Amino acid sequence: MVKAVKPKKAAKSGAISGATRKRIAEEMQKFPQKRGALLEALHLVQEELGCIAPETARELAEIFEMRAVEVMEVVSFYNMFHAAPQGRHHVHVCTNLPCSLRGGRSLLRRLEEHLGIRAGETTPDGRITLGREECLGACAYAPMLRIGDTYHENLGVELAKKLLDSLE
Ligand code: FES
Repeated sequence: MVKAVKPKKAAKSGAISGATRKRIAEEMQKFPQKRGALLEALHLVQEELGCIAPETARELAEIFEMRAVEVMEVVSFYNMFHAAPQGRHHVHVCTNLPCSLRGGRSLLRRLEEHLGIRAGETTPDGRITLGREECLGACAYAPMLRIGDTYHENLGVELAKKLLDSLE
């Protein structure tokens, strides 16, 4: 099944905007301690800038009166946050056991070769960031691959390559 996938926002450089700072301040009001709003702030900032780069973490650390390393610890803990600019499309191959038994790991290797990057990297044209998943909750349809929020099931290598080639 091939579905159109909405491209991710391109990463922008620069500081956290005044509008986003205002929204972060509003979120902080909802918690007894400022840092309770950190996850929401990370979502807002990533939406605006495309990733949470170390310099952005320093800005957030000032806002939250934390150390930048503490902000980066949160960024690195959750896989929905990114410390570096991402591709327009996130392609994740499931490599957990059920998918691996049906070729998930070899599918990932073949896609790495096809794109010329390793899992965790982004193509030089900024088109695709390739990654691996621990389980997409659809093991009966292994091997599985996710492009953005769209699941693709029972994938063979050639079909998966076609899917990737169809992404702009
Ligand atoms: Fe791949 Fe569950 S192991 S979807």
